[in-house]
Amino acid sequence: MEFSVKSGNPEKQRSACVVVGIFDRRKLSAAARVLDKASGGVLSTILRRGDMDGEKGQTLWLYNLPDTLCDRVLLVGCGKEREFDEPAYRSVTATMAQTVQRSGAVEAVNYLTDLPVKGRDTLWKISQAVTVTEDALYRFQRLKSKKDDTRRPLRRIVLSVPSRSDLLPGEEAVRIAAAVSVGTRLTRDLANLPGNICTPAYLAEQAVQLKKTYKGLKVEVLEEAGMEKLGMGALLSVSRGSAQPAKLIVLEHRGGKKDRKPVVLVGKGITFDTGGISLKPGAAMDEMKFDMCGAASVLGVMKACAEMMLPINVVGVVAAAENMPDGKATRPGDVVTTLSGQTVEILNTDAEGRLVLCDALSYVERFTPDAVIDIATLTGACIIALGHQATALLGNHSPLAHELLNAGRQSYDRAWELPLWDEYQEQLKSNFADMANIGGRPAGTITAACFLSRFTKKYHWAHLDIAGVAWKSGKEKGATGRPVPLLMQYLLNKAG
Ligand code: BES
Ligand code: MN
Ligand code: ZN
Repeated sequence: MEFSVKSGNPEKQRSACVVVGIFDRRKLSAAARVLDKASGGVLSTILRRGDMDGEKGQTLWLYNLPDTLCDRVLLVGCGKEREFDEPAYRSVTATMAQTVQRSGAVEAVNYLTDLPVKGRDTLWKISQAVTVTEDALYRFQRLKSKKDDTRRPLRRIVLSVPSRSDLLPGEEAVRIAAAVSVGTRLTRDLANLPGNICTPAYLAEQAVQLKKTYKGLKVEVLEEAGMEKLGMGALLSVSRGSAQPAKLIVLEHRGGKKDRKPVVLVGKGITFDTGGISLKPGAAMDEMKFDMCGAASVLGVMKACAEMMLPINVVGVVAAAENMPDGKATRPGDVVTTLSGQTVEILNTDAEGRLVLCDALSYVERFTPDAVIDIATLTGACIIALGHQATALLGNHSPLAHELLNAGRQSYDRAWELPLWDEYQEQLKSNFADMANIGGRPAGTITAACFLSRFTKKYHWAHLDIAGVAWKSGKEKGATGRPVPLLMQYLLNKAG
Protein backbone atom coordinates (compact mmCIF):
# COMPACT_ATOMS: atom_id res chain seq x y z
CA MET A 1 0.00 0.00 0.00
CA GLU A 2 1.10 3.52 -0.77
CA PHE A 3 0.42 6.07 1.97
CA SER A 4 0.66 9.83 1.90
CA VAL A 5 -0.47 12.72 4.07
CA LYS A 6 -2.50 15.76 3.13
CA SER A 7 -4.33 18.61 4.80
CA GLY A 8 -7.52 19.91 3.23
CA ASN A 9 -11.29 19.81 3.27
CA PRO A 10 -13.15 16.58 2.49
CA GLU A 11 -15.55 18.12 -0.05
CA LYS A 12 -12.56 19.29 -2.11
CA GLN A 13 -10.96 15.86 -2.48
CA ARG A 14 -10.98 14.68 -6.08
CA SER A 15 -10.76 11.02 -5.13
CA ALA A 16 -12.41 7.63 -5.60
CA CYS A 17 -13.36 7.65 -1.95
CA VAL A 18 -13.52 9.86 1.13
CA VAL A 19 -13.84 8.26 4.58
CA VAL A 20 -15.35 10.08 7.56
CA GLY A 21 -16.47 9.00 11.03
CA ILE A 22 -19.92 9.03 12.63
CA PHE A 23 -20.28 8.78 16.41
CA ASP A 24 -23.03 7.01 18.29
CA ARG A 25 -25.91 8.26 18.27
CA ARG A 26 -25.98 9.92 14.88
CA LYS A 27 -23.30 12.44 15.73
CA LEU A 28 -21.21 13.79 12.87
CA SER A 29 -17.45 14.01 13.31
CA ALA A 30 -15.81 17.30 12.29
CA ALA A 31 -15.03 16.06 8.76
CA ALA A 32 -18.53 14.59 8.40
CA ARG A 33 -19.99 17.94 9.44
CA VAL A 34 -18.04 19.70 6.69
CA LEU A 35 -19.33 17.22 4.09
CA ASP A 36 -22.84 17.62 5.46
CA LYS A 37 -22.69 21.36 5.13
CA ALA A 38 -21.20 21.25 1.63
CA SER A 39 -23.86 18.83 0.42
CA GLY A 40 -26.75 20.77 1.88
CA GLY A 41 -27.43 18.46 4.80
CA VAL A 42 -27.49 15.07 3.03
CA LEU A 43 -25.58 13.28 5.83
CA SER A 44 -27.80 14.53 8.63
CA THR A 45 -30.91 13.62 6.63
CA ILE A 46 -29.65 10.08 6.09
CA LEU A 47 -28.80 9.69 9.78
CA ARG A 48 -32.17 11.09 10.81
CA ARG A 49 -33.93 8.57 8.60
CA GLY A 50 -32.19 5.82 10.56
CA ASP A 51 -29.83 4.29 7.98
CA MET A 52 -26.96 4.48 10.45
CA ASP A 53 -26.60 5.50 14.06
CA GLY A 54 -22.80 5.39 14.46
CA GLU A 55 -22.32 2.15 16.36
CA LYS A 56 -18.71 1.00 16.19
CA GLY A 57 -18.07 -1.05 13.07
CA GLN A 58 -21.11 0.11 11.08
CA THR A 59 -20.44 1.34 7.57
CA LEU A 60 -22.54 3.10 4.97
CA TRP A 61 -21.65 4.03 1.39
CA LEU A 62 -22.92 7.25 -0.16
CA TYR A 63 -22.61 7.89 -3.88
CA ASN A 64 -22.77 11.15 -5.82
CA LEU A 65 -22.88 13.37 -2.76
CA PRO A 66 -23.85 16.83 -4.09
CA ASP A 67 -21.16 19.51 -4.22
CA THR A 68 -18.30 17.18 -3.44
CA LEU A 69 -15.56 16.05 -5.82
CA CYS A 70 -15.20 12.41 -4.79
CA ASP A 71 -16.89 9.35 -6.36
CA ARG A 72 -18.10 7.95 -3.05
CA VAL A 73 -18.15 8.62 0.65
CA LEU A 74 -17.75 5.95 3.30
CA LEU A 75 -19.31 6.66 6.68
CA VAL A 76 -17.70 4.60 9.45
CA GLY A 77 -19.44 4.12 12.80
CA CYS A 78 -17.05 4.98 15.64
CA GLY A 79 -19.14 4.26 18.73
CA LYS A 80 -19.60 6.74 21.57
CA GLU A 81 -17.42 9.80 21.21
CA ARG A 82 -16.54 9.78 24.92
CA GLU A 83 -15.35 6.17 24.63
CA PHE A 84 -13.27 6.69 21.50
CA ASP A 85 -9.97 5.29 22.73
CA GLU A 86 -6.93 3.53 21.24
CA PRO A 87 -8.57 0.16 20.55
CA ALA A 88 -11.62 1.93 19.09
CA TYR A 89 -9.40 3.99 16.77
CA ARG A 90 -7.56 0.85 15.69
CA SER A 91 -10.74 -1.09 15.09
CA VAL A 92 -12.48 1.59 12.99
CA THR A 93 -9.29 1.97 10.97
CA ALA A 94 -9.29 -1.77 10.25
CA THR A 95 -12.98 -1.60 9.29
CA MET A 96 -12.20 1.30 6.97
CA ALA A 97 -9.38 -0.61 5.27
CA GLN A 98 -11.38 -3.78 4.72
CA THR A 99 -14.50 -1.98 3.56
CA VAL A 100 -12.66 0.23 1.09
CA GLN A 101 -10.70 -2.78 -0.17
CA ARG A 102 -13.95 -4.57 -1.07
CA SER A 103 -15.47 -1.52 -2.75
CA GLY A 104 -13.48 -1.32 -5.95
CA ALA A 105 -12.07 2.11 -5.08
CA VAL A 106 -8.36 2.10 -5.88
CA GLU A 107 -7.62 4.99 -3.56
CA ALA A 108 -9.15 6.75 -0.58
CA VAL A 109 -8.73 9.86 1.52
CA ASN A 110 -9.07 8.87 5.17
CA TYR A 111 -10.33 11.47 7.67
CA LEU A 112 -10.47 9.06 10.61
CA THR A 113 -6.94 10.28 11.46
CA ASP A 114 -8.57 13.60 12.45
CA LEU A 115 -10.70 12.04 15.19
CA PRO A 116 -9.50 12.95 18.67
CA VAL A 117 -8.05 9.98 20.60
CA LYS A 118 -7.37 10.69 24.24
CA GLY A 119 -3.66 11.12 25.01
CA ARG A 120 -2.56 10.49 21.42
CA ASP A 121 -1.30 12.98 18.86
CA THR A 122 -1.58 13.17 15.09
CA LEU A 123 1.68 11.31 14.53
CA TRP A 124 0.55 8.37 16.64
CA LYS A 125 -2.69 8.23 14.67
CA ILE A 126 -0.84 8.41 11.34
CA SER A 127 1.56 5.68 12.32
CA GLN A 128 -1.24 3.45 13.64
CA ALA A 129 -3.29 4.07 10.50
CA VAL A 130 -0.43 2.67 8.42
CA THR A 131 0.30 -0.40 10.53
CA VAL A 132 -3.34 -1.25 11.26
CA THR A 133 -4.28 -0.93 7.58
CA GLU A 134 -1.40 -3.13 6.43
CA ASP A 135 -2.31 -5.64 9.12
CA ALA A 136 -5.99 -5.68 8.21
CA LEU A 137 -5.31 -6.21 4.51
CA TYR A 138 -2.68 -8.90 5.02
CA ARG A 139 -3.46 -12.28 3.50
CA PHE A 140 -1.29 -15.35 3.15
CA GLN A 141 -1.97 -16.87 -0.24
CA ARG A 142 1.41 -18.18 -1.32
CA LEU A 143 0.37 -21.80 -1.04
CA LYS A 144 -3.05 -21.53 -2.71
CA SER A 145 -3.10 -22.59 -6.35
CA LYS A 146 -5.85 -20.03 -7.10
CA LYS A 147 -5.37 -16.65 -5.47
CA ASP A 148 -8.62 -14.83 -4.72
CA ASP A 149 -7.50 -11.49 -6.11
CA THR A 150 -9.58 -8.43 -5.46
CA ARG A 151 -10.87 -7.15 -8.79
CA ARG A 152 -9.57 -3.62 -8.33
CA PRO A 153 -7.32 -3.60 -5.30
CA LEU A 154 -6.92 -0.55 -3.10
CA ARG A 155 -3.53 0.95 -3.91
CA ARG A 156 -3.26 4.31 -2.20
CA ILE A 157 -4.49 5.82 1.05
CA VAL A 158 -4.19 9.51 1.79
CA LEU A 159 -4.18 10.30 5.50
CA SER A 160 -5.61 13.60 6.61
CA VAL A 161 -3.61 15.82 8.97
CA PRO A 162 -5.07 18.96 10.58
CA SER A 163 -2.65 21.54 9.18
CA ARG A 164 0.13 22.10 6.67
CA SER A 165 2.71 22.16 9.46
CA ASP A 166 1.86 18.48 10.13
CA LEU A 167 2.80 17.43 6.60
CA LEU A 168 6.54 16.95 7.04
CA PRO A 169 6.41 15.13 10.40
CA GLY A 170 3.42 13.19 9.03
CA GLU A 171 5.43 11.98 6.04
CA GLU A 172 8.24 10.89 8.33
CA ALA A 173 5.75 9.00 10.52
CA VAL A 174 4.45 7.25 7.40
CA ARG A 175 7.97 6.33 6.30
CA ILE A 176 8.79 4.78 9.68
CA ALA A 177 5.45 3.00 10.08
CA ALA A 178 5.60 1.63 6.55
CA ALA A 179 9.03 0.14 7.29
CA VAL A 180 7.68 -1.45 10.46
CA SER A 181 4.87 -2.93 8.37
CA VAL A 182 7.31 -4.34 5.82
CA GLY A 183 9.16 -6.07 8.66
CA THR A 184 5.96 -7.32 10.26
CA ARG A 185 4.82 -8.74 6.95
CA LEU A 186 8.04 -10.75 6.61
CA THR A 187 7.53 -12.06 10.13
CA ARG A 188 3.97 -13.16 9.36
CA ASP A 189 4.91 -14.71 6.02
CA LEU A 190 7.76 -16.76 7.48
CA ALA A 191 5.72 -17.83 10.49
CA ASN A 192 2.75 -18.91 8.37
CA LEU A 193 4.90 -21.18 6.20
CA PRO A 194 4.64 -24.86 7.19
CA GLY A 195 7.45 -26.91 8.65
CA ASN A 196 8.11 -28.78 5.42
CA ILE A 197 8.99 -25.52 3.67
CA CYS A 198 10.25 -23.30 6.48
CA THR A 199 13.16 -25.40 7.78
CA PRO A 200 16.25 -24.06 9.56
CA ALA A 201 18.00 -23.99 6.17
CA TYR A 202 15.10 -21.97 4.73
CA LEU A 203 15.40 -19.40 7.52
CA ALA A 204 19.13 -19.14 6.85
CA GLU A 205 18.38 -18.64 3.15
CA GLN A 206 15.96 -15.83 4.04
CA ALA A 207 18.68 -14.08 6.03
CA VAL A 208 21.02 -14.34 3.05
CA GLN A 209 18.25 -12.92 0.81
CA LEU A 210 17.84 -9.97 3.20
CA LYS A 211 21.52 -9.21 2.85
CA LYS A 212 21.11 -9.24 -0.94
CA THR A 213 18.29 -6.67 -0.75
CA TYR A 214 19.92 -4.47 1.88
CA LYS A 215 23.62 -4.14 1.15
CA GLY A 216 24.32 -2.67 4.59
CA LEU A 217 23.43 -5.90 6.40
CA LYS A 218 26.01 -8.51 7.34
CA VAL A 219 25.07 -12.16 7.52
CA GLU A 220 26.75 -15.26 8.86
CA VAL A 221 25.37 -18.79 9.19
CA LEU A 222 26.96 -21.19 11.64
CA GLU A 223 26.54 -24.87 10.69
CA GLU A 224 26.33 -27.84 13.07
CA ALA A 225 30.04 -28.63 12.64
CA GLY A 226 30.91 -25.11 13.76
CA MET A 227 28.53 -25.33 16.70
CA GLU A 228 30.07 -28.65 17.68
CA LYS A 229 33.50 -27.03 17.67
CA LEU A 230 32.31 -24.19 19.88
CA GLY A 231 30.66 -26.63 22.28
CA MET A 232 26.97 -25.84 21.82
CA GLY A 233 25.82 -29.13 23.29
CA ALA A 234 22.40 -27.88 24.30
CA LEU A 235 21.42 -26.46 20.93
CA LEU A 236 22.70 -29.54 19.11
CA SER A 237 20.78 -31.89 21.42
CA VAL A 238 17.54 -30.47 20.03
CA SER A 239 18.23 -31.08 16.34
CA ARG A 240 19.78 -34.51 16.96
CA GLY A 241 16.54 -36.33 16.09
CA SER A 242 15.83 -34.28 12.99
CA ALA A 243 16.84 -34.81 9.38
CA GLN A 244 17.12 -31.00 9.17
CA PRO A 245 20.45 -29.64 10.41
CA ALA A 246 20.35 -26.78 12.91
CA LYS A 247 21.56 -23.33 11.89
CA LEU A 248 22.72 -20.40 13.96
CA ILE A 249 21.98 -17.32 11.90
CA VAL A 250 23.60 -13.96 12.64
CA LEU A 251 22.50 -10.73 10.95
CA GLU A 252 24.08 -7.35 11.68
CA HIS A 253 22.66 -3.93 10.98
CA ARG A 254 25.33 -1.32 11.68
CA GLY A 255 23.38 1.91 11.36
CA GLY A 256 25.00 3.66 14.33
CA LYS A 257 28.50 4.84 15.18
CA LYS A 258 31.16 2.11 14.97
CA ASP A 259 32.00 2.16 18.67
CA ARG A 260 28.41 2.01 19.91
CA LYS A 261 27.41 -1.27 21.54
CA PRO A 262 24.65 -3.07 19.68
CA VAL A 263 21.23 -4.18 20.83
CA VAL A 264 21.21 -7.94 20.31
CA LEU A 265 18.00 -9.82 19.53
CA VAL A 266 17.90 -13.60 19.88
CA GLY A 267 14.98 -15.53 18.40
CA LYS A 268 13.78 -19.06 19.11
CA GLY A 269 13.57 -20.74 15.72
CA ILE A 270 12.08 -24.19 16.25
CA THR A 271 10.68 -24.72 12.77
CA PHE A 272 8.55 -27.56 14.08
CA ASP A 273 8.16 -28.71 17.66
CA THR A 274 6.83 -32.25 18.01
CA GLY A 275 8.11 -32.36 21.58
CA GLY A 276 10.75 -34.91 20.57
CA ILE A 277 10.75 -38.15 22.59
CA SER A 278 8.53 -36.34 25.13
CA LEU A 279 6.06 -36.28 22.24
CA LYS A 280 3.24 -33.76 22.30
CA PRO A 281 -0.40 -34.88 22.10
CA GLY A 282 -1.86 -34.72 18.59
CA ALA A 283 -4.50 -32.01 19.02
CA ALA A 284 -3.50 -28.78 17.27
CA MET A 285 0.06 -30.00 16.84
CA ASP A 286 0.10 -28.33 13.42
CA GLU A 287 0.35 -25.02 15.30
CA MET A 288 3.85 -25.99 16.40
CA LYS A 289 4.99 -24.77 12.98
CA PHE A 290 4.64 -21.37 14.69
CA ASP A 291 7.37 -22.29 17.16
CA MET A 292 9.77 -20.17 15.11
CA CYS A 293 7.80 -16.94 15.59
CA GLY A 294 10.58 -15.51 17.77
CA ALA A 295 13.05 -16.12 14.95
CA ALA A 296 10.61 -14.67 12.41
CA SER A 297 10.25 -11.54 14.53
CA VAL A 298 14.03 -11.12 14.67
CA LEU A 299 14.24 -11.36 10.87
CA GLY A 300 11.30 -8.95 10.54
CA VAL A 301 12.96 -6.43 12.86
CA MET A 302 16.25 -6.67 10.96
CA LYS A 303 14.39 -6.02 7.73
CA ALA A 304 12.55 -3.04 9.21
CA CYS A 305 15.81 -1.59 10.58
CA ALA A 306 17.48 -1.90 7.20
CA GLU A 307 14.44 -0.56 5.35
CA MET A 308 14.18 2.59 7.49
CA MET A 309 17.98 2.93 7.83
CA LEU A 310 17.66 3.12 11.60
CA PRO A 311 20.71 4.93 13.00
CA ILE A 312 21.70 2.38 15.66
CA ASN A 313 23.54 -0.93 15.76
CA VAL A 314 21.39 -4.06 15.96
CA VAL A 315 22.46 -7.69 15.84
CA GLY A 316 19.85 -10.37 15.16
CA VAL A 317 20.55 -13.99 16.05
CA VAL A 318 18.30 -16.90 15.17
CA ALA A 319 18.72 -20.30 16.82
CA ALA A 320 17.04 -22.55 14.27
CA ALA A 321 16.37 -26.26 14.72
CA GLU A 322 13.62 -28.84 14.37
CA ASN A 323 12.52 -30.92 17.37
CA MET A 324 11.75 -34.49 16.23
CA PRO A 325 11.59 -37.96 17.78
CA ASP A 326 13.99 -40.47 16.22
CA GLY A 327 16.50 -43.21 17.03
CA LYS A 328 19.14 -40.54 17.32
CA ALA A 329 16.97 -38.12 19.29
CA THR A 330 17.84 -36.90 22.77
CA ARG A 331 16.29 -39.03 25.56
CA PRO A 332 14.71 -37.76 28.76
CA GLY A 333 17.49 -38.01 31.34
CA ASP A 334 20.29 -37.23 28.93
CA VAL A 335 22.86 -34.77 30.23
CA VAL A 336 24.44 -32.23 27.86
CA THR A 337 27.14 -29.60 28.25
CA THR A 338 26.21 -26.09 27.18
CA LEU A 339 28.48 -23.53 25.53
CA SER A 340 28.76 -21.84 28.93
CA GLY A 341 30.24 -25.02 30.42
CA GLN A 342 27.21 -25.60 32.64
CA THR A 343 25.59 -29.04 32.36
CA VAL A 344 21.88 -29.67 31.87
CA GLU A 345 19.79 -32.75 32.61
CA ILE A 346 17.13 -32.86 29.91
CA LEU A 347 14.15 -34.20 31.83
CA ASN A 348 11.71 -33.27 29.10
CA THR A 349 12.70 -32.98 25.45
CA ASP A 350 9.67 -30.76 24.88
CA ALA A 351 11.36 -27.98 26.87
CA GLU A 352 13.65 -27.48 23.87
CA GLY A 353 13.34 -23.73 23.35
CA ARG A 354 15.46 -22.92 26.37
CA LEU A 355 18.07 -25.41 25.14
CA VAL A 356 18.59 -23.70 21.81
CA LEU A 357 18.38 -20.26 23.41
CA CYS A 358 20.87 -20.85 26.21
CA ASP A 359 23.70 -21.55 23.77
CA ALA A 360 22.72 -18.65 21.53
CA LEU A 361 22.65 -16.39 24.61
CA SER A 362 26.19 -17.44 25.54
CA TYR A 363 27.29 -17.00 21.94
CA VAL A 364 26.18 -13.34 21.82
CA GLU A 365 28.56 -12.29 24.63
CA ARG A 366 31.07 -11.75 21.82
CA PHE A 367 29.14 -8.69 20.61
CA THR A 368 29.60 -6.85 23.96
CA PRO A 369 25.93 -5.97 23.82
CA ASP A 370 24.27 -2.85 25.18
CA ALA A 371 21.27 -5.11 25.84
CA VAL A 372 20.14 -8.58 24.82
CA ILE A 373 16.48 -9.38 24.21
CA ASP A 374 15.36 -12.89 23.43
CA ILE A 375 12.01 -13.57 21.82
CA ALA A 376 10.44 -17.01 22.09
CA THR A 377 7.22 -19.00 21.98
CA LEU A 378 8.64 -20.61 25.07
CA THR A 379 5.88 -21.88 27.35
CA GLY A 380 2.26 -22.98 27.19
CA ALA A 381 2.08 -21.69 30.77
CA CYS A 382 2.42 -18.16 29.40
CA ILE A 383 -0.96 -18.54 27.72
CA ILE A 384 -2.45 -19.66 31.03
CA ALA A 385 -0.92 -16.68 32.83
CA LEU A 386 -1.62 -13.85 30.36
CA GLY A 387 -3.88 -15.26 27.66
CA HIS A 388 -3.58 -13.93 24.15
CA GLN A 389 -3.26 -10.25 25.01
CA ALA A 390 0.12 -9.66 26.57
CA THR A 391 3.66 -10.80 25.91
CA ALA A 392 5.33 -11.95 29.14
CA LEU A 393 8.45 -9.97 29.99
CA LEU A 394 11.15 -11.05 32.43
CA GLY A 395 14.70 -9.82 32.82
CA ASN A 396 17.68 -8.94 34.95
CA HIS A 397 17.76 -5.14 34.50
CA SER A 398 14.74 -3.08 35.41
CA PRO A 399 15.51 0.00 33.25
CA LEU A 400 15.57 -2.28 30.19
CA ALA A 401 12.33 -3.97 31.27
CA HIS A 402 10.68 -0.58 31.65
CA GLU A 403 11.84 0.62 28.26
CA LEU A 404 10.29 -2.48 26.71
CA LEU A 405 7.03 -2.23 28.66
CA ASN A 406 6.81 1.39 27.60
CA ALA A 407 7.50 0.59 23.95
CA GLY A 408 4.72 -1.99 24.13
CA ARG A 409 2.25 0.59 25.39
CA GLN A 410 3.31 3.12 22.75
CA SER A 411 2.96 0.66 19.87
CA TYR A 412 -0.16 -0.97 21.34
CA ASP A 413 1.76 -4.27 21.28
CA ARG A 414 1.79 -4.69 25.01
CA ALA A 415 3.89 -6.73 27.43
CA TRP A 416 3.47 -7.45 31.14
CA GLU A 417 6.24 -8.20 33.58
CA LEU A 418 6.47 -11.38 35.65
CA PRO A 419 8.85 -11.73 38.62
CA LEU A 420 12.19 -13.43 38.29
CA TRP A 421 12.90 -13.93 41.99
CA ASP A 422 15.73 -16.17 43.15
CA GLU A 423 13.30 -18.40 45.04
CA TYR A 424 12.00 -19.77 41.74
CA GLN A 425 15.49 -20.99 40.78
CA GLU A 426 15.17 -23.88 43.23
CA GLN A 427 12.68 -25.58 40.95
CA LEU A 428 15.49 -26.23 38.46
CA LYS A 429 17.60 -28.36 40.81
CA SER A 430 18.92 -31.61 39.35
CA ASN A 431 20.51 -34.58 41.13
CA PHE A 432 22.67 -35.35 38.12
CA ALA A 433 23.69 -32.09 36.46
CA ASP A 434 24.08 -28.36 37.20
CA MET A 435 20.40 -27.88 36.44
CA ALA A 436 17.32 -29.54 34.99
CA ASN A 437 15.64 -28.15 31.90
CA ILE A 438 12.19 -28.10 33.54
CA GLY A 439 10.89 -26.76 36.84
CA GLY A 440 7.58 -28.54 37.30
CA ARG A 441 4.06 -27.22 36.84
CA PRO A 442 4.05 -24.10 39.03
CA ALA A 443 5.09 -20.84 37.32
CA GLY A 444 6.23 -22.50 34.10
CA THR A 445 6.94 -19.22 32.32
CA ILE A 446 9.05 -17.97 35.21
CA THR A 447 11.11 -21.14 35.63
CA ALA A 448 11.80 -21.14 31.88
CA ALA A 449 13.14 -17.58 32.24
CA CYS A 450 15.10 -18.68 35.36
CA PHE A 451 16.78 -21.28 33.20
CA LEU A 452 17.77 -18.62 30.62
CA SER A 453 18.91 -16.21 33.36
CA ARG A 454 21.77 -18.58 34.16
CA PHE A 455 23.24 -17.83 30.74
CA THR A 456 22.75 -14.05 30.67
CA LYS A 457 24.71 -12.84 33.68
CA LYS A 458 27.26 -10.89 31.63
CA TYR A 459 24.87 -8.31 30.16
CA HIS A 460 21.54 -6.54 30.53
CA TRP A 461 18.90 -8.96 29.37
CA ALA A 462 15.16 -9.24 28.83
CA HIS A 463 13.12 -12.24 27.76
CA LEU A 464 9.86 -11.96 25.82
CA ASP A 465 7.62 -15.04 25.96
CA ILE A 466 5.29 -14.60 23.00
CA ALA A 467 3.52 -17.98 23.23
CA GLY A 468 0.11 -16.31 23.63
CA VAL A 469 0.42 -13.47 21.12
CA ALA A 470 2.49 -14.65 18.16
CA TRP A 471 -0.36 -16.39 16.35
CA LYS A 472 -4.10 -16.88 16.37
CA SER A 473 -5.90 -20.22 16.39
CA GLY A 474 -9.30 -21.19 15.05
CA LYS A 475 -10.96 -19.63 12.04
CA GLU A 476 -8.42 -16.83 11.82
CA LYS A 477 -5.46 -19.14 12.31
CA GLY A 478 -2.26 -17.33 11.38
CA ALA A 479 0.72 -15.37 12.60
CA THR A 480 0.15 -11.88 14.04
CA GLY A 481 3.62 -10.40 13.55
CA ARG A 482 3.88 -9.57 17.25
CA PRO A 483 6.12 -8.41 18.87
CA VAL A 484 7.72 -6.62 15.90
CA PRO A 485 5.86 -3.36 16.65
CA LEU A 486 7.04 -3.43 20.29
CA LEU A 487 10.65 -4.16 19.35
CA MET A 488 10.72 -1.51 16.63
CA GLN A 489 9.27 1.07 19.02
CA TYR A 490 11.96 0.16 21.56
CA LEU A 491 14.70 0.58 18.94
CA LEU A 492 13.17 3.81 17.62
CA ASN A 493 13.08 5.23 21.15
CA LYS A 494 16.73 4.28 21.53
CA ALA A 495 17.62 5.94 18.25
CA GLY A 496 15.96 9.12 19.58
N1 BES B 1 6.80 -24.40 21.99
C1 BES B 1 6.36 -24.90 23.23
C2 BES B 1 5.53 -23.89 24.02
C3 BES B 1 4.16 -23.62 23.49
C4 BES B 1 3.18 -24.59 23.58
C5 BES B 1 3.86 -22.40 22.94
C6 BES B 1 1.91 -24.31 23.10
C7 BES B 1 2.59 -22.13 22.48
C8 BES B 1 1.62 -23.09 22.55
C9 BES B 1 7.55 -25.29 24.10
O1 BES B 1 8.62 -25.82 23.40
C10 BES B 1 7.08 -26.35 25.04
O2 BES B 1 6.72 -27.39 24.59
N2 BES B 1 7.07 -26.03 26.32
C11 BES B 1 6.60 -26.94 27.31
C12 BES B 1 7.53 -26.83 28.49
C13 BES B 1 7.31 -27.89 29.51
C14 BES B 1 7.70 -29.22 28.97
C15 BES B 1 8.11 -27.54 30.74
C16 BES B 1 5.18 -26.55 27.68
O3 BES B 1 4.88 -25.35 27.74
O4 BES B 1 4.37 -27.44 27.87
MN1 MN C 1 8.47 -27.89 23.11
ZN1 ZN D 1 8.85 -25.23 21.51
